Amino acid sequence: MTTRSGVTAYLEDTLTEPNVSGLDRLRLVEAPLVPEVRLHLAEDPIVWWARMDAQTGGASTAPFWATAWPGGQAVARYVLDHPGTVAGRRVLDVASGSGLVAIAAGLAGAAALTANDIDPYALAAITLNARANDVEVSTCPGDLLDGDGGDTDVVLAGDVFYNHTIAKRMWPFLRRAAARGAHVLVGDPGRGHLPRNRMTTVASYPAPAAADSAEPYISRMSVLQPR
Ligand SMILES: C[S@@+](CC[C@H](N)C(=O)[O-])C[C@H]1O[C@@H](n2cnc3c(N)ncnc32)[C@H](O)[C@@H]1O
Repeated sequence: MTTRSGVTAYLEDTLTEPNVSGLDRLRLVEAPLVPEVRLHLAEDPIVWWARMDAQTGGASTAPFWATAWPGGQAVARYVLDHPGTVAGRRVLDVASGSGLVAIAAGLAGAAALTANDIDPYALAAITLNARANDVEVSTCPGDLLDGDGGDTDVVLAGDVFYNHTIAKRMWPFLRRAAARGAHVLVGDPGRGHLPRNRMTTVASYPAPAAADSAEPYISRMSVLQPR
């Protein structure tokens, strides 16, 4: 399971396994705050990770792509409610995970969509999720954080301030993108590494019911842009 096509095939196979039930599976479900988008998400991400670990001899990384993160749901909700933000524009969804934000931007009328992630499983999941929503998304592997988002008009980032390592590189990346004129929007549920005092909040949503959330202590999720 080292090539992208191999990873995509692996995920496709698991989705079509007969008689699979319980926590050890992916399901095509609506994102709670964004029911317009359906995603292949883990019934239980920890159990799913254990399954992947068993199959890769302990070499798998956390399947972040198998959860619709609250920050991603917020920015996806925002672009669907404000389609003018992305309609007709070239959009980059950085650290895309499941592809939720890119797919929402596609449904809102973006002209071209690029979803970037460093995890090959995420890229495979984005391909399958884009197909499930009938949206065309180009996947972009690798780490773009030393750049400025290239020639994209809009840079979207859902829940990218979840730890210090990514936060300390993500913020300069987003600042560079904004400085060259890209419209930058970040979705975040109040993570400690978010540079909140250097950003303006443009929207805020109540978190979905605890039963729909992997992080029931989160009460609001916001959409912000660099000042
Ligand atoms: C918390 S998840 C958020 C996923 C998605 N944006 C959402 O809101 O549902 C963070 C994602 O960042 C990705 N990631 C981590 N470091 C990255 C980097 N340097 N470049 C691109 N993606 C990265 C991870 O693989 C993971 O999919």
